[in-house]
Amino acid sequence: MQPIYLDYNASTPVDPAVVAAMRPFLEGHYGNPSSGHWAATTAKAALETARGQVAALLGCRDDEVVFTSGGSEANNLALKGAFFARRDKGEHIITTPIEHPAIVEPCRFLERLGARVTYLPIDGTGRVDPDDLRQAITPRTILVSIMHANNEVGTIEPIEDCARIAREHKVLFHTNAAQSVGKIATDVNELGIDLLSIAGHKVYAPKGVGALFVRRGASIEPLIHGAGHESGRRAGTESALLAVGLGKACELARDLSPMHRVRALRDRFWQGLQQQFGDGVILNGHSTHRLPNTLNVSFVGRIGAEILARLDGVAASTGSACHSGRIELSPVLQAMGVAPHVGMGAIRFSLGRATTGDEIEAALERLTDVLAVTG
Ligand SMILES: Cc1ncc(COP(=O)(O)O)c(C=O)c1O
Repeated sequence: MQPIYLDYNASTPVDPAVVAAMRPFLEGHYGNPSSGHWAATTAKAALETARGQVAALLGCRDDEVVFTSGGSEANNLALKGAFFARRDKGEHIITTPIEHPAIVEPCRFLERLGARVTYLPIDGTGRVDPDDLRQAITPRTILVSIMHANNEVGTIEPIEDCARIAREHKVLFHTNAAQSVGKIATDVNELGIDLLSIAGHKVYAPKGVGALFVRRGASIEPLIHGAGHESGRRAGTESALLAVGLGKACELARDLSPMHRVRALRDRFWQGLQQQFGDGVILNGHSTHRLPNTLNVSFVGRIGAEILARLDGVAASTGSACHSGRIELSPVLQAMGVAPHVGMGAIRFSLGRATTGDEIEAALERLTDVLAVTG
């Protein structure tokens, strides 16, 4: 039985063009980019080319890109870095209850250091209401962090409107774009944001690399102190190898046209599920404001994890997690107000550039078989 990978929101394969770009830096070009001799030249030049490629994707200046070890570090740097740099101005942070743990946990940590965190309500589709943000801002608010698109249900947040409100109040705005880059437009000026995180392994680069966009003038305190790498914003000898990988991936990600095909396949999958299961299957997330590759569906009255366990060879994710022997609804579905008998049956299928129509047909068939047996 052919394995079918439908978990691109968890991680993407490394694009062959990314592998080719990285190879010379694995096999040679070992110089430290900060050295002053011949061995540094290629590594330094490649690092800066890669920075330019990331900047071109985000529509920002090269010096506004800080390389990190991934999305989690970029988010930690944004939240803690902004808090530490602005704590004389206030201690209030605003975010949402559907953020990735790489936002939620730094918020909890900062609460232990005296931060006050407001979690905005979200609606049944996973969207925040910009008016709620407007009402939540106080003179002590120093940072707003709202994800660009949700990793579980794919809902796209009204970032432009929220960022405008933050700007009117002179509050720094961060968005976690780990799931949106390469799937929808992520131009920092169109979005109007000050800080934006990306993760390499969600965009066909390797794991262990990411970047944070820091708008000029938006000061953040580094988390890693040392020599003045990354213009003093993140110490540690830069990996030209990983930066080159992220740079090439970002260059490829500027072309959003593969997403037309991915969206069509995703929609075909959803239609097939509806034909097969009728009212027994429910879409989680927003019907239109949604990533083109993401399909989170609930098989009503079933347990998503049990279906997945029987779905031989199909890699996908479930919204429910098993904690101490009990199956719990994911915090995202909980915050959306999804009823437990619906949410427990949630499965996230996330498609990618390499997904084929045959894979979608095969996944539909296997699902039909599994549900017939377990029904
Ligand atoms: C929305 C979101 N943010 C952040 C991350 C973390 O990125 P990384 O794995 O590169 O640390 C992920 C990965 O699961 C994610 O989906």
